[in-house]
Amino acid sequence: MKTVLVTGGLGFIGSHTVVELIGRGYRVVVADNLTNTRADVLDRIATITGTAPVWANVDLADPVACGALLAGHPELDGVIHFAAHKAVGESVQKPLAYYHNNFGSLVNLLRFVAERPRCGFIFSSSCTVYGQADTLPIREDAPVKPAESPYGNTKQVGEEILRDAARAHGLKAIALRYFNPIGAHPSAKIGELPLGVPQNLVPFLTQSAAGLRGALKVFGNDYPTRDGTCIRDYIHVVDVALAHIYALERLLAGKGEQPVEVFNLGTGTGSTVLEVIQAFERATGVKLAYEFAPRRPGDVVAAYADTERAARLLGWRAERSLDTAMADAWRWQQSLPKA
Ligand code: WQD
Repeated sequence: MKTVLVTGGLGFIGSHTVVELIGRGYRVVVADNLTNTRADVLDRIATITGTAPVWANVDLADPVACGALLAGHPELDGVIHFAAHKAVGESVQKPLAYYHNNFGSLVNLLRFVAERPRCGFIFSSSCTVYGQADTLPIREDAPVKPAESPYGNTKQVGEEILRDAARAHGLKAIALRYFNPIGAHPSAKIGELPLGVPQNLVPFLTQSAAGLRGALKVFGNDYPTRDGTCIRDYIHVVDVALAHIYALERLLAGKGEQPVEVFNLGTGTGSTVLEVIQAFERATGVKLAYEFAPRRPGDVVAAYADTERAARLLGWRAERSLDTAMADAWRWQQSLPKA
């Protein structure tokens, strides 16, 4: 039985990935210090899978705590590193907290993996590294643009740290560049759990539809797109989770063609904000109140993935539709307390 450490394994994408790993017979150790989630996600994972993973409440940016955790698990076959601060706006207010947490945890983990090159490493990166790409769909060899935020910088520099460590220590890694993960597990036991006012479109949309927020504000309807609103590649979180299984299996099989491989995780289809709203209404039968508001600083006009590399080398493609994602997101929202 292969053992995998999943950092941030109680978070949004992390918890969905843990469910898929357990479902495929992996032994999972979760490291999560609950900075952006709640402990009961562990019980929910156990409810879905019948197995509760081992959970360590550890600050991975603390070299002593991280080292102690890893020393207790010399048997690790893989590390999937989700744990990071990830709010674009917050990163502008607290850059040092973002650099400390995101770089500190990454370096501490890579120190361990560097001594065990057979242990595969998967890094959560983001399409944010592309900025406003010159060509759509966006290929992995598109130029990386200057980061628009400290958060985006932690992903760009994180990939460089990975490449330098791989070159120096012979470790094998895969960086996955997420486009816009949305939705929830079909069981409605786990999903996106934003603490505070959601910054992302879909959790705000479902909270607004549930009456927990006012009308959704659509940030800008004067963009040069088919309906004036921004375009993104919204991908079901279960598809994103499954991609991590394919990436892990590529690493464990030693199939990597370079020390660090990069893959886009998207559907290859762009949807406007209005099309997301229409998909929600179509999938749920719930009418959504929304209003147009000024553009949000930092937003790119359009971003959606070229998915050919992931299909060819990972053997993975997103399978779930936008409507399915919205139905699952709504079912998850309805399972949450109304207050
Ligand atoms: C999507 C679209 C908004 C909220 C960010 C990060 C990215 C990743 C996902 C972490 C945009 C519009 C949003 C609202 C709106 N984060 N919108 N009203 O900005 O594409 O990506 O989150 O990995 O790295 O950059 O996602 O969901 O915030 O916005 O109109 O209340 O929805 O303007 O066009 P984004 P988002």
